[in-house]
Parts: sequence; C-alpha cells; structure tokens
Amino acid sequence: MYGADISNTHPDSRWQNEPGSTKANRFRVGAVADVVGRTALVTGGTRGIGAAIAKALRDADYAVAATYHGNDEAAEGFEAATGIPVFKWDVADDEACAAGVAQIAATLGPVEILVNNAGITRDAMLHKLSSEQWRDVIETDLTACFNMCRAVIPGMRKVGYGRIVNVSSINGQKGQLGQTNYAAAKAGLLGFTKALALESAAKGITVNAIASGYIATDMVAAVSRKILDGIVAQIPVDRLGRPDEVARAVLFLASDEAGFITGSPLTVNGGQYMT
Ligand code: CAA
Repeated sequence: MYGADISNTHPDSRWQNEPGSTKANRFRVGAVADVVGRTALVTGGTRGIGAAIAKALRDADYAVAATYHGNDEAAEGFEAATGIPVFKWDVADDEACAAGVAQIAATLGPVEILVNNAGITRDAMLHKLSSEQWRDVIETDLTACFNMCRAVIPGMRKVGYGRIVNVSSINGQKGQLGQTNYAAAKAGLLGFTKALALESAAKGITVNAIASGYIATDMVAAVSRKILDGIVAQIPVDRLGRPDEVARAVLFLASDEAGFITGSPLTVNGGQYMT
C-alpha cells in the first residue's frame, strides 16, 4: 500500500530505510529521529550562513563543532555566546583538515554530518583577475570540500551512515559578472556533489548541495549598493534571503529522514533562478 511503513519488514534489505546502515534502521518512516549524539561539523561555522547552520543543528540536538580561519576574537565570542566549540584551521590545507577532523572525533565523536560552508569571494572582471585571486577562491571554495570530504568519508563508510551538505551558489548555476573564479568553484561543487553521491549512496551516506541565492551576510554587503539594488530587483521574493532560511534547508538535508535525497542541488534563492 502506498504510504505504508514498509521499512525493516521486507525480507530484501533493499526495502529497508538505508541499506548498509548500522544506525538508520532504528528510524522508521515517519518516526521522530533520535539525533542526540550525532556529531555535526560546519566549516566557516562562526559567521553568516555558517553560524546560522551551526545554531540550527545545535537547536536540533546535534553535537556541533564549527571551524573558522580568520578572526580569533569573533570566533571566541561566538563560542561563548552559543556554546558551540570552535576549531581553527585553513580548510584549503588538506593535512590541517585531516588533523582537525581527528581532533573533533576525539572530542565530540566521529563526524556524521559535514556541512562544507566555508567560502570566500575575490570578485573582479577576468581581465583584472590575478592568479592569486583565482587560486584563493578555487582552493577555499572547492578544494576545501575535497579535503574535508576525504577526511570524513572513510569513517562514514565504515559505520554506514553520513550526511554531507555542500553550500554552493546561484552564481555557480547561472554565472555572475566579476565571478569567474567563484562561479567555477561553486559549479564545481555541484559536480563534485553528484559524483560523491553516486560513490556513497550504497553506504548510507547522502551528499547534497544548497544552491544559495543572495543572503544578507557580510559577503553580500561587500557588493556596492548600486549593484546590489540591481540584483535585489531580480529576486521575485523582493528581498535578500536570511541566513536562517538557508540553515533550515541544510537541517532538512542533514536529517535521518532525508535518506532518499542524494546528489540534489536544493535551490534557496527567492525565485531568482529556477533550474
Ligand atoms: N550586469 C551587467 N553589467 C554590469 C553589472 C551587472 N550586474 N555590473 C557591472 N556591470 C558592467 C558595468 O556597467 C561596467 O560596464 P562599462 O565598463 O561598460 O560601464 C562593467 O560591467 C564593469 O563593471 P564595474 O565598473 O563594476 O567594474 P569594476 O571592476 O569596478 O567592478 C565587480 C567589478 C567588482 C565585479 C563589480 O561589478 C561587482 O561587484 N559585481 C557584483 C559581483 C557579485 O554579484 N558578487 C556576489 C558576491 S556575494 C556572493 O557571491 C554570494 C553568493 O553566493 C550569491
């Protein structure tokens, strides 16, 4: 019967919630998932969208860790205000990612939810874009995702469970003037997401992306007022998004109940670009 709970009753394990999962079979379709104890890691998790994601996961009773790279004082203030432990490393550095993930596993437990949110912009027209601006954005916005996923995937495959959410952008879908570097990195995240989703599906691990639109953060505030007014005029909802609106979407994809969604770019952009 359509809609009936057929999980865990069919003799063929493929009819169970998540084949290969050692934990997921505790969660029947429609049941309230017991997420207490799952460890979630949010990169760039002390500011803007990342901070909203970290707080939403904490409020849903995940054990959350947030990484940051720049401002110690701001990160310590975030930790004091939220109770979310912060860890400092450069996600563009693969050895630092491996060491940081091991440290979080030792402190909070193995990472079962990874949100690759850390990102930077170095906007300039291509004819003015330096190699350094290109490299910085590709390494922080794309290579970092590879570094972090490679650090957590072996553990997720071992336990047969994982949730990875990569924060991509509308500008990786449609392009944006002045963002050849950023658009390439964010489009790269979408392809990466699909490939890793295929590799991981049979292991109880989902890999999805958020294609985020223009959200009221420091990053967007750095765009000149004149250009930003023009951008907002293209958003049917007629405003910038809020960080908590992206966080809500991440929370959904991170949940046990989202186990049948993988390789999906979930659009959160106020209708600015429809794929
Ligand atoms: N559409 C069409 N043409 C545009 C334009 C637009 N949105 N913005 C600028 N132009 C035109 C200008 O009129 C100008 O043309 P002319 O030379 O013929 O007059 C030309 O493009 C160059 O523009 P600028 O004078 O602005 O060039 P600049 O070197 O001073 O600045 C820039 C370039 C820094 C890229 C600037 O255009 C800019 O900030 N653009 C917005 C980039 C943007 O949207 N960044 C998003 C950051 S937030 C983010 O990325 C988060 C996310 O995921 C959404």
